Amino acid sequence: MRHFLTTEDWTREELQTWLDDARRLKAKPLQSRLAGKSIALLFFNPSLRTRTSFELGAHQLGAKAIVLEPGKGAWPIEFEDGAVMDGDAEEHVREAARVLSRYCDAIAVRAFPKFQDWSVDREDRVIRQFAAHATVPVINMETIVHPCQELALMLTLQEQFGGADATDGRKFVLTWTYHPKPLNTAVANSALMIAAKFGMNVTLLCPDSRYVLDDRYMKAAFMSTQAQGRTLHVTHDINEAYHGADIVYAKSWGALPYFGDWANEKPIRERYKHFIVDEDKMKLTKDGLFSHCLPARRNVKVTDEVIDGPRSRVIEEAENRLHVQKAMMSALIGAA
Ligand code: CP
Repeated sequence: MRHFLTTEDWTREELQTWLDDARRLKAKPLQSRLAGKSIALLFFNPSLRTRTSFELGAHQLGAKAIVLEPGKGAWPIEFEDGAVMDGDAEEHVREAARVLSRYCDAIAVRAFPKFQDWSVDREDRVIRQFAAHATVPVINMETIVHPCQELALMLTLQEQFGGADATDGRKFVLTWTYHPKPLNTAVANSALMIAAKFGMNVTLLCPDSRYVLDDRYMKAAFMSTQAQGRTLHVTHDINEAYHGADIVYAKSWGALPYFGDWANEKPIRERYKHFIVDEDKMKLTKDGLFSHCLPARRNVKVTDEVIDGPRSRVIEEAENRLHVQKAMMSALIGAA
């Protein structure tokens, strides 16, 4: 039994088999591969795409998905070992994970950081605790990484560029964008890692060094690029980053040194509204594609012109969540 907590645990070749299968599933969506199976979808945070694509994906393969929102229709859960449970939580993850494992063939979890202390949040305790105590595969629906989004991004790029090796050597730019609130770094961490794993030359564009991502993901991306003779480059220069890009991937995130201290980060990010993805910047690219995980605030992160333009792949990437997750679920809980 293997969990899908992060793509770091899976090789490029293993992930490619899922992407190949996702293409087959896209061509023939209704199959009975998971007939009689079930999956619990635990949402500690809101969702449009993830919930819809997992529920429908399970349905299209003959499985039953059960959505649970702990603390809202399902009991609040405690994650601290040895806790004296005299607060809000009514049950411990040790019971919740094992009970759900008796009912279901997989447990999928969305649990964002609490945004108070990055040294705590970076341990990804909620999903790690589920993985420790479940006896069925645990799937990450976004915690401090978003591996399902990574798969969808790669399927989208492979469709565009024409095959499994077609992303090799391409210039992938992950650009920070302004957003009025400090957001999770999950998609940024993930975009960096998957672009590096699939052989791209990766540029991280962010306003200043405070917006560089956690060392763990910088190192993982660096190791992947090095192993394949590619580069990982960090820049704060917008023109340099966009120049010659094949893909511009946009995301906003909070600066880690200010994690939990957003009042002091706010005046800093307010200075960087010009990081918006617009047509002038996209003109610097090599007829580059634009994408984003969604949801995206229009004319804050990206202009209408770009997101609605012919090089935007945001809708394709969102659709591909469905296909890649079906392939991943088939691999984890389908018949051998
Ligand atoms: N991209 C993504 O995970 O979308 P949702 O937050 O709507 O699920």
